[in-house]
Amino acid sequence: MTDPKKGYITEVPYPNVYHRELNPSFHALALNANGLSSPSRVTPYTYLELGCAWGLSTLIHAAANPDSKFVGVDFNGECIAAANEIAKEAKLTNVEFLQADFADLPDRVMPGFDTIVMHGVWGWIDQKGRDQIVRILDRHLKPEGHAFISYNAMPGNAPVDALRRLLQVGFELGAEPLFNKVNAGVGIAGQVKDNGARFFAAHPMMAERMDHMIKPAPRDYLAHEYFNADWQPFYFTDVQAQLSPAGLAFAGSAHLLDLIDDAQLPEAARNHIAGAPTIGTRETLRDFYINTLFRRDLWRRGQVAQTKDSQDALMTTKFVIGQGVEHFDRIAGHAMLGEVRPKADPGRAVVAVLESGPKTAVEVSQDSALAGVELGVILETMMVLAAVGAAEPILPEAGFAARKESCKRLNMALAQRTLSAAKTGGREWQSLASPVTGGGVATNAVIQAFILAGHQGVEPMAFAASFAPDDAPAADVQEHIRKLYEVFERESGTTFGNLGIV
Ligand SMILES: C[S@@+](CC[C@H](N)C(=O)[O-])C[C@H]1O[C@@H](n2cnc3c(N)ncnc32)[C@H](O)[C@@H]1O
Repeated sequence: MTDPKKGYITEVPYPNVYHRELNPSFHALALNANGLSSPSRVTPYTYLELGCAWGLSTLIHAAANPDSKFVGVDFNGECIAAANEIAKEAKLTNVEFLQADFADLPDRVMPGFDTIVMHGVWGWIDQKGRDQIVRILDRHLKPEGHAFISYNAMPGNAPVDALRRLLQVGFELGAEPLFNKVNAGVGIAGQVKDNGARFFAAHPMMAERMDHMIKPAPRDYLAHEYFNADWQPFYFTDVQAQLSPAGLAFAGSAHLLDLIDDAQLPEAARNHIAGAPTIGTRETLRDFYINTLFRRDLWRRGQVAQTKDSQDALMTTKFVIGQGVEHFDRIAGHAMLGEVRPKADPGRAVVAVLESGPKTAVEVSQDSALAGVELGVILETMMVLAAVGAAEPILPEAGFAARKESCKRLNMALAQRTLSAAKTGGREWQSLASPVTGGGVATNAVIQAFILAGHQGVEPMAFAASFAPDDAPAADVQEHIRKLYEVFERESGTTFGNLGIV
C-alpha cells in the first residue's frame, strides 16, 4: 500500500483534477501581475509536469497548444497508461506521459524545458525526492525558464500537522484494506473531537476541517492528503533555500487572489510588508499576517527584475468571461482572510461588455457603458474577475483553428470516457479544454453529453438520458436533464461558446 521505498501511497491513484495555475498562459498573466515581464505567449514552448497523476492538466494544455511540446511524469502506472491512451484517442502528437520515478529523471536525456510545473508534489514526498526535483530543475529547466511549485505552507498548517498525527493514530490501528484504515483514522479523530478534546477547542478551524473537509471527502483524496508517510508543510524561506542551488529566484504567486492585498490585509500590515528588506522577510511576514495554508508560486531561473512593461502587458491582455452578467452576484472567490468580489460598479458593466467577446481593459473602457470610468479601475476590476476565476486571459488569435480542432478531439475523448463512467461507474473527467484560454473548463457528465451530442449532431436530451445508470427512474432522469438543458440552451453561448468549446 505505502511503498516502503518511497513512502508514498501507490495503492490508489490521486483524483483527476484540472489546475489553472499549471497553465503557462495563466503564468504569463501572473508574472505581469507580479510586476514582471512574461515570456512571449506566441513562441512554442516545452513543458514538463512532475507528478502529473492522470495527466488531465497536461492533456488540456497540450490540446490547446498543438505547437508546443508537453511531457507528464508519474510513477503511477495506471494513471500514466490512461493518460497515454487518451492522448492517442485524441490524436495528440505533442504530448507524452512517462511512467518514471523522479530519481530517474536528472540523468535522463530530455529536451530543455521552458516550464516545469508540479502541483501537490513538493510537500508530499520525502527529502530525497525533493533533492531529486531540485536536480531535475537544475538539469532540465532552461535559463529564463519558469517553475511552478505549490505546497502546504506554514504557519497555517501548524495545527493541521497535529491533526494529521491524530488521524494517523487511527489509521495505524485500522485493518486493511487502505480505505478501511482511512475510515479508522477519520473515525478516531472524529471521536476525539466529539468527546470535547481541548485541541479542537483551541483550534476551531480544525474542528471545522474535520466536519466539512475531512469527514465528507473522497477517500482517495484523504489517503494522499493525510495518510502518506511523507507530508510536510513548509516555510517560504526553506523552499527558497532548497531551490537556490538550481538558480531559481522567486517570481511571485500564481494565485492571483494573493495579489489583492486590499482584500486580505489591513493597511498597517501592508505597510509593514512593503518595508521588508528581503523577499524572504516579506513573504514570511505575509504568511504570518495571512496565516497562509497553501502557496502556489512561480520561480524564474535567473534574475528576476521588476519591469514597467508589465502594466502595458496587462492593459493589452484580452480576457474572456465564462459567466453572464445575470449571475454577477455569484462571482466571488475565497481569499485566506475572507470573500473577494468585484465591486458592482463598474463590475456589472465590465462583465456585460466582456460577455459579448474577449476584450482588453482598453477595449472595455471604450464602451459607452463605461464612459468616465478610469482605465486603472477597469483593469483592477478585470484582475479581480480573473483572480476569482470568472475571467481568463486568452491565447493569441493566430493558430485558433488548429487549437480548436485538437481541443475538440480531446474533449470528445474525455466526454466519451466520462459518459461511460456515468453509466457503469468509474472515473469521470470533469474538465474540458478551451482553445480560447488554453486551459480547462469545469463541466459535469450531463453537460459533456450535451456538448458531445452537438459535435455528433444527435438529439442532446435523449443522448444524455442514454448514459443514466440503468437503475435510475426514467421519469426523474428526463426531468433532471430537461431542466439542465433549458439552462444549457440559454447560457452555453457565454459559458462554452465564448470559450470555444461549443
Ligand atoms: C498528491 S498527488 C498530486 C497529483 C496531481 N499533480 C494533482 O495535483 O492533481 C502526487 C503525485 O505525485 C506522484 N509521485 C510521488 N512521488 C513520485 C516519484 N518519486 N516519482 C514520480 N511520481 C511521484 C504520485 O504518484 C501522485 O500522482
